[in-house]
Amino acid sequence: MSSTLFRTKKVEQSILDTEEPEHALKKSLSALDLTVFGVGVIIGTGIFVLTGKVAKENAGPAVSLAFVVAGVVCALAALCYAEFASTVPVAGSAYTFSYASLGELPAWTIGWDLVLEFALGTAVVAVGWSGYIRSLLDNAGWHMPEALSGREGATGFGFDILAAALVLVLTVILVLGMKLSARVTEVVVAIKVTVVLIVIIAGAFFVNSSNYKPFIPKTQTVEAAGNLKAPLIQLMFGWAPSNFGVMGVFTAASVVFFAFIGFDVVATAAEETKNPQRDMPRGILGSLFICTVLYVAVAIVVTGMQHYSKLSVDAPLADAFKAIGHPWYAGVISFGAAVGLTTVCMILLLGQTRVFFAMSRDGLLPRFFSRVHPRFKTPHRPTILLGVVIAILAGFTSLSELAELVNIGTLFAFVVVAIGVIILRRTRPDLHRAFRTPWVPFLPIVSVLATLWLMLNLPAETWLRFVIWMVIGFVVYFLYGRSHSRLGLHEETTVGQVLKRPGRGEE
Ligand code: ALA
Repeated sequence: MSSTLFRTKKVEQSILDTEEPEHALKKSLSALDLTVFGVGVIIGTGIFVLTGKVAKENAGPAVSLAFVVAGVVCALAALCYAEFASTVPVAGSAYTFSYASLGELPAWTIGWDLVLEFALGTAVVAVGWSGYIRSLLDNAGWHMPEALSGREGATGFGFDILAAALVLVLTVILVLGMKLSARVTEVVVAIKVTVVLIVIIAGAFFVNSSNYKPFIPKTQTVEAAGNLKAPLIQLMFGWAPSNFGVMGVFTAASVVFFAFIGFDVVATAAEETKNPQRDMPRGILGSLFICTVLYVAVAIVVTGMQHYSKLSVDAPLADAFKAIGHPWYAGVISFGAAVGLTTVCMILLLGQTRVFFAMSRDGLLPRFFSRVHPRFKTPHRPTILLGVVIAILAGFTSLSELAELVNIGTLFAFVVVAIGVIILRRTRPDLHRAFRTPWVPFLPIVSVLATLWLMLNLPAETWLRFVIWMVIGFVVYFLYGRSHSRLGLHEETTVGQVLKRPGRGEE
């Protein structure tokens, strides 16, 4: 049994599968497309929304350090992702990589985990987007009815109609084809980066250095009542739950980590890249670097403009400008944020459908989902199914706890990918690697440890929810995936043919 759970899919087989005409995606993306694609999904709710909450509750002005910590963890993981993506250029990201190195069960685990990351991530960003749109509508004197404004603060029924509508529109765009969505992405990314640069450059003129004191606020013990809300590490070592201080910076890092999610999504487009061996590492590392620099700059400027305790939780970047008497800037920033969040949502949704597509092509989920559309060449079935599910989810979702759940899922994927790099180097040293992670196994081990550290700084209840989701995944695998796996069926046929070969045994 354990041999079937850890059966691995040959890298050559993964690449061959992508060449079956009915199950093949178009190869149209370049390194620049990938970088734009990366920046398009990376900059989003994390910097536009979570910065304020985290500065206010966990880290003060040291939120900029939290971005550095999270950025370093991501850079380590990116170096591992880049090697995998350039070796196994097939849709499905960490899922495909682990199928080639660790075996079927770990691959299923990671695929199921990525479903959580992308589906909930899409929902979180859609809800963030709708908040900005409502704030713009409010400015124009037009108010959404409360029942259609989402769960946050709703007294009775609350459905976020804007968030759900966004997901459905994006679903249609994705079904129509990758090329169209890549073009839309480019324009929107330009708007988003411009708005971030406005915050940094214009905001720098309004920095008041007294706001940086103290840079790392003193540790504050919090009520031990809702213990499960405390970071797991504090519970494990029996520390009194606390905010701020050096540990607060790490708690903040584990939350703002959400702001970096997306560079791993770039890897999911490997199969649609013209020259994945060269362009994939460039796309992943390039977009990650650009975003880290921008985030740290934004965090330094915003906490310098307004005292951290006064930052707003809903729209901190825009509201910091309102607070210093520049509502015009605030309007522009809100508009850019709303436009920018659209691409984040779209690319997360795209990553989601591609992982689902890859799992279905391998037979771990029904094969029905992996037939591409005859004309658009897109996996229209999983795109439509997931689009509808996520739209409903976005309608009934509230934000921050889901973001933490997304983070734990993504961090877990990083751990598996880093281990996968080490294993694949040993089991398949012969494979051509256009990009090689430096200092293997040292760097992947450091990546695993750093990632685990961030995971331990997430709340205990997030861990609990994550474990429940993964248990459901195991049930699905053992009831369906294991017996329908194409790799398993292929092995059975081969073994059957060998056993039936005339003469064998009669010799
Ligand atoms: N990194 C993306 C965001 O911050 C998911 O919205």
